[in-house]
Amino acid sequence: MRTLVSQTAQNLRPSGIRRYFDIAATMDDVVTLGIGEPNFVTPQHILEKGIESLRRGETGYTSNSGTIELRRAISGYIERLYGLHYQPENEVLVTVGVSEALWIALKAVLDPGDEVLVVQPCFVANAAAVEMAGGLPVIVNTSVEHEFQVTGAALEAAVTPRTKAILISYPNNPTGAILTREHILQVAAIAQKHDLVVLSDEIYERLVYDADHICFASLPGMFERTIVLSGMSKTFAMTGWRIGYAAAPAPLMEAMRKLHQYLIMSAPTMGQAAALEALEHGEDDVEHMRVQYDRRRRLIVSGFNDLGLTCFDPRGAFYAFPSIEATGMEDEDFCERLLHEERVAVVPGSAFGQSGSGFVRASYATSDDNIERALERMSRFMRRYG
Ligand SMILES: Cc1ncc(COP(=O)(O)O)c(C=O)c1O
Repeated sequence: MRTLVSQTAQNLRPSGIRRYFDIAATMDDVVTLGIGEPNFVTPQHILEKGIESLRRGETGYTSNSGTIELRRAISGYIERLYGLHYQPENEVLVTVGVSEALWIALKAVLDPGDEVLVVQPCFVANAAAVEMAGGLPVIVNTSVEHEFQVTGAALEAAVTPRTKAILISYPNNPTGAILTREHILQVAAIAQKHDLVVLSDEIYERLVYDADHICFASLPGMFERTIVLSGMSKTFAMTGWRIGYAAAPAPLMEAMRKLHQYLIMSAPTMGQAAALEALEHGEDDVEHMRVQYDRRRRLIVSGFNDLGLTCFDPRGAFYAFPSIEATGMEDEDFCERLLHEERVAVVPGSAFGQSGSGFVRASYATSDDNIERALERMSRFMRRYG
């Protein structure tokens, strides 16, 4: 019988994160710093709006693009944050998380064989999404020596006549880096020079510490060539509601809307009702959660540094990305031993791209107590291997 599975699917590498969770799930008393989602429950008033929507019997589809009320709220939110105006009618799309937004954005701009500059380390789905959309990911590495900043020179060196787009995601998962104005302007200059689309995944935009987030589309000349991706998952502790959005100039959005319509129909209806409440009345919740993440960030980063796991200072998202060089181990080996010997789950940096090798990702979107227990166990581990 011929092979039933497509070459594209065969070529995709399984996510390097899942393996550790599968092992951890078979063990007792594991402290996990592995999960990339808020440990908060969705704030009560937001949750209630979702429930009320169901109780009102709103169990059907919405307009393909999302309810006009929610699109207006998204447009208003972006304007409030960055002074940018997107038309709710034709420049905003409500999606099933950034996951869907990323996929349709790529599909909207790529023809088969087009290349996308994928800045790594990054979210595990990025390179795979480019491949699934028929493109070729061209990896542009960043390093701790340059504070995980992507430079214009590194992008320039990777550009070919087939390059169509740049995919960046800052604040960054897994490093916690944010992009400085100097570097973000370099990215913009390359996009301009080579006439590229920029897909900017800004899902952690509100989780920044002692720093400001710059929306890529707000840079001079960038609005016309940028697709901004963001959503509710991280900012409002709403991962399970599956609501994200894309904002882009009308011609790009028109293409994305067609793809979304055939692929998804419309994003979850009760989730849209909850998202509307989040955007209209959720600011205090955002700040409350951000302050707690910030405290945990300091706790975990100083804890790692004290253990000899030198840790880059993360200014965004909710991840710490310490170097494990002191142990002399490969990152996968480190994670496996740490899990089996001390029952602490972290994720090998190489799961986020080759330039993540030699690091591990530890999420501090967990309780202070969990962080302290993990550090205590890791201190025993480091006494043996440090
Ligand atoms: C950088 C980044 N983009 C997108 C996602 C997916 O988000 P969503 O829940 O909106 O699909 C994640 C989730 O971890 C992420 O870290």
